Amino acid sequence: MPKIVLFSIFFSCLVLNSSCVNIPPKTTFENSNVLDSAMVVSAHPLASEIGKSILLKGGNAVDAAIAVQFALTVVHPSAGNIGGGGFMVVRFNDGSHTSLDFRETAPALASKDMYLDDKGNVIDRLSLDGHLAVGVPGTVDGMYSAFKKYGTLKWEELLQPSIDLANNGFVLTKLEAEGLNYYNSNKLKFNSISPTYLEGTWSQGDTLKLTDLGNTLALIRDYQRAGFYEGETAEKFIQEMNRNGGLITKNDLINYQSKWRDPVVGMYKNFKVISMGPPSSGGACLLQILKMIESFNLKKMGFHSADAVHLIVEAEKRAFADRSKYLGDPDFIRIPLEKLLDSNYLIDRMRNYSSLRATISDSIYPGDFDFVESDQTTHYSIVDAYGNAASVTTTLNSSYGSGVVVGGAGFLLNNEMDDFSSKPGAPNLYGLVGGSANAIEPNKRMLSSMTPTILEKDKKLFMVVGTPGGSTIITGVLQTILNVIEFDLSMQDAVSAGRFHHQWKPKEIKIEQNKFDSTLIFQLMQMGHSFNFVGSMNRVDAIVVAKDGSLEPGADPRGDDAYSGF
Ligand code: DON
Repeated sequence: MPKIVLFSIFFSCLVLNSSCVNIPPKTTFENSNVLDSAMVVSAHPLASEIGKSILLKGGNAVDAAIAVQFALTVVHPSAGNIGGGGFMVVRFNDGSHTSLDFRETAPALASKDMYLDDKGNVIDRLSLDGHLAVGVPGTVDGMYSAFKKYGTLKWEELLQPSIDLANNGFVLTKLEAEGLNYYNSNKLKFNSISPTYLEGTWSQGDTLKLTDLGNTLALIRDYQRAGFYEGETAEKFIQEMNRNGGLITKNDLINYQSKWRDPVVGMYKNFKVISMGPPSSGGACLLQILKMIESFNLKKMGFHSADAVHLIVEAEKRAFADRSKYLGDPDFIRIPLEKLLDSNYLIDRMRNYSSLRATISDSIYPGDFDFVESDQTTHYSIVDAYGNAASVTTTLNSSYGSGVVVGGAGFLLNNEMDDFSSKPGAPNLYGLVGGSANAIEPNKRMLSSMTPTILEKDKKLFMVVGTPGGSTIITGVLQTILNVIEFDLSMQDAVSAGRFHHQWKPKEIKIEQNKFDSTLIFQLMQMGHSFNFVGSMNRVDAIVVAKDGSLEPGADPRGDDAYSGF
């Protein structure tokens, strides 16, 4: 891929002044299935460049993921974070895989009805705005845990590029400038100590310096996990909580622990799908939908045909109905994952599917089986020169999270508490409903839709994919996969293509306007579907391994998303 080589070497010499020749030796790992290139696709060109600089130094996909995560905290503050959490799925070049859950937890002082008024009604936006909306962040513990287990470069090397970026400043893209202006108009008010560097009106081309954040990142560089969960940063965090009724305590911070979990793994035709398990619903729902549609001839139906959209939407409704009842934090509830992913069960779920008529959402219920119940995000995809892959989705929840910046420490806090079900049946920000499985409990993780995913074909790495977008994450990942493996689109076309989404409730198909022709909409209406047209859906970032072993990026044109590689 000569274009990538020329561009990336020029850019990294110019911007990062990093070594441009230190390509890792191909013999570093025994038995390695070495690719002749490596790639990062993320929401921001500077973050992708930092990731590439780590890969060029010989770092592996996990090293690069850590560096990209910290870089996005600086250059993509609406979602990139140290004040939030996320999930990482890793596939190693020997075919083994693992996943890391660095999802936020409810503070120990949280309680089931904390967002309800005296009459038991949900208090509008209490789980979304300000200090009470914040879950205990997991990112820094997650990154350090990933580093301890799989990192090969020095921790300092992974942090320093982001510290430099924060302290020296970086030039805003149009989207980031607009984002900061949105933050100033809507979210700055949740701070009593105003992050002055964020005030004012921003334009494309302005330089933003984030020196408070630079200092915090330097503490994390020097003291690792303790640089965030203890000492100066923790003090500032607790002072911030105390300023306006936040619940997070010193103990919450000290006790936070990310967890290594088994990914959910299943087959779709001859593709092995490796994705995130609970407390994310992403992998389970993705596999459910894939299994429900597997026996139909999607290819024959055709890309964006009424039959294909109808089939996918109908399967989505059934998966989201199951999500609402059965999924939550596996450390708190029993999840019948085996049953939910069982082929016979999923075939049975489609028994009342009609290829001609939409099934009314109110007539679909979560699957009923014998089971005792005990009781603005961002994604990046990485493949390193050794053939290892990392798929990471990370979030503050909504854009700029709770809006609260930890005074003097310069980082935004999440509003992830809204991902719990505040009250059975009451929709959250993404219209998702849930019940007791996802009720608030102290120290519990809120159910997520994040779906960082890796596919393999014939035992070889095939695709790394993921996206932000709340509930639309699951269906965005699904369509991107199907666009490539069923409809033969290139990775970039698969990512750029229009997207649609159904989540059982509400009853409409959410669909990107101007990306589907009116005949299709008319045909689907005749089948009984209704629509919610939206401007632009999620930003998918993906990599596919072409037949010759080279890497093909899909960087979403809906954002500043960019790839970098060599
Ligand atoms: O974990 C989840 O499912 C949500 N907090 C993700 C939010 C999100 O993707 C927002 N992005 N646009």
